[in-house]
Amino acid sequence: MTTSPAAPMFDFSGRHVFVAGGSSGINFGIAKGFARAGARIALISRSADKVATAVSQLEAEGAEAFGQAADVRQPEAVQAALEAAAARFGPIDVLVSGAAGNFLASVLDMSPNAFRTVVDIDLLGSFHVARLAHAHLRQPGACVIQISASQAFTPTPFQAHVCAAKAGVDMLTQVLAMEWGPQGIRVNSIVPGPIADTEGLRRLAPTDDTLAAMARRVPLSRLGQTQDIARMAMLLASDWGSYVTGAIIPVDGGLALTGPRDFSAAAAASRR
Ligand code: COA
Ligand code: NAP
Repeated sequence: MTTSPAAPMFDFSGRHVFVAGGSSGINFGIAKGFARAGARIALISRSADKVATAVSQLEAEGAEAFGQAADVRQPEAVQAALEAAAARFGPIDVLVSGAAGNFLASVLDMSPNAFRTVVDIDLLGSFHVARLAHAHLRQPGACVIQISASQAFTPTPFQAHVCAAKAGVDMLTQVLAMEWGPQGIRVNSIVPGPIADTEGLRRLAPTDDTLAAMARRVPLSRLGQTQDIARMAMLLASDWGSYVTGAIIPVDGGLALTGPRDFSAAAAASRR
């Protein structure tokens, strides 16, 4: 079975989807998926230019979209953006939290501030976004989706900061699922595999050779597309996902089954 963007399987007409870190890559792909299914999209990221470009692209496809520059490390900025989005689109039906940073570095090549920076963005940022969004979530009925990574459960050399941060993100997902379940709010993590044409993958597989090796390693023998992740996000947020909460869901062609990856060559090439 195939589906095309022109004939979406899901109908999110009029629903408010708020995407933190939504101006590029996987998260923008999720925003586009929901927009094509009729949703109204609010998105934030640090760069005002990236936010404006993303909003224009969604509007060019006929979607209602709103964006505001905000760093997830700054709770006041996140709160202001959430308030502005809620004033425009009403209660949030789907919250996607995927702002993140990454680089390859061994623990000994990582300053305390380098480690802290990734934990601040990925983990504390997810905490701020979820905690501050709660007042704006539709209750009952809202769906929160956190974008994690396999480093959360696969110890991966040169990724100590991401491993620690994303493990925390998945724990946050599970605790929130328990705390917010009685209010009718579901909380799940999606764990993307290597997704083609994204900054995250460029940082881990910077050359054609490393990219091809990554694709060969995936049991389904291909890199993922942002659409693969958008479809899982829509499935989770739809009625088809109505009894799923606290789940950590790999969408990775089976890559997580293959154990830790070897980033030593790429790390040596990118060493500061
Ligand atoms: N190796 C070792 N340390 C590094 C590094 C690298 N490749 N890149 C950054 N750092 C260190 C910096 O030296 C700094 O530490 P210091 O103050 O002790 O020198 C610390 O990390 C913070 O760097 P800075 O550039 O000030 O952070 P920032 O907040 O401007 O940017 C990053 C955050 C570093 C995560 C940046 O890569 C980013 O903006 N990433 C977003 C895009 C991305 O990573 N996409 C993929 C998502 S998976
Ligand atoms: P990306 O395009 O760099 O996406 C990261 C997004 O977060 C950008 O829109 C970025 O925009 C924003 N962002 C970064 N720091 C922020 C901050 N402090 N505050 C607010 N927004 C911030 O990279 P990606 O590869 O698509 O990654 C998206 C998500 O997927 C991440 O959570 C990542 O961990 C996860 N993931 C990716 C892969 C992959 O193969 N790419 C695999 C597994 C998991 P600004 O620069 O404007 O802030």
